[in-house]
Amino acid sequence: MEQYQPILKRLEKTAKHYTNIAPENGQFLAILIRSIRAQNVLEVGTSNGYSAIWIAAALKETGGRLISLEFDPARAAEAQTHLQEVGLDDIVEVRVGNALDEIPKCDATFDLVFLDAEKDEYRRYLELVLPNIRLGGLIVADDTVTMRDEMPDYVEFVFNTPMLNSVDIPLDDGIILSYKTGD
Ligand SMILES: C[S@@+](CC[C@H](N)C(=O)[O-])C[C@H]1O[C@@H](n2cnc3c(N)ncnc32)[C@H](O)[C@@H]1O
Repeated sequence: MEQYQPILKRLEKTAKHYTNIAPENGQFLAILIRSIRAQNVLEVGTSNGYSAIWIAAALKETGGRLISLEFDPARAAEAQTHLQEVGLDDIVEVRVGNALDEIPKCDATFDLVFLDAEKDEYRRYLELVLPNIRLGGLIVADDTVTMRDEMPDYVEFVFNTPMLNSVDIPLDDGIILSYKTGD
């Protein structure tokens, strides 16, 4: 992971503009991915690729791949450039389009899904992708403390669906980590 610190540090200078996750949330994602030896990860909301670098760096160790969805072509292009710069572009496929249209086109079975686009669409993203998350797979949703009032339907869903075990984690802007059970 050490070799990616220079680009991560550089991108952290513009993190507010690109609404990137905090470094500790990137570290958290990377630890989860390495812990479960994830092979297939979906990210909803690429921006300029900051979180994708954290995710892809961990996937380089596990031999896995990331599909990352972004509807702004300029941001997707910036992400592609950053991933190329650090040689992670062969691990990541940045798909340009609305996640609500793109998620149903994904036929992979995901070990981990990271939600970081429109907060009031989180529940729809999850409902679309849930059949394609393996049993024991993880869902990580960002901004769940600071923007919780924009996602009441998501919070209700992840804490009340028997198939999901969920916990609030107060890391930076907040994360809800959910585990898909067989129930
Ligand atoms: C919070 S930023 C993502 C930050 C990124 N995960 C990171 O930490 O580097 C959210 C991004 O989601 C994109 N977005 C919002 N709604 C979307 C949608 N329905 N489909 C695809 N992308 C979307 C926005 O254009 C924006 O770039």
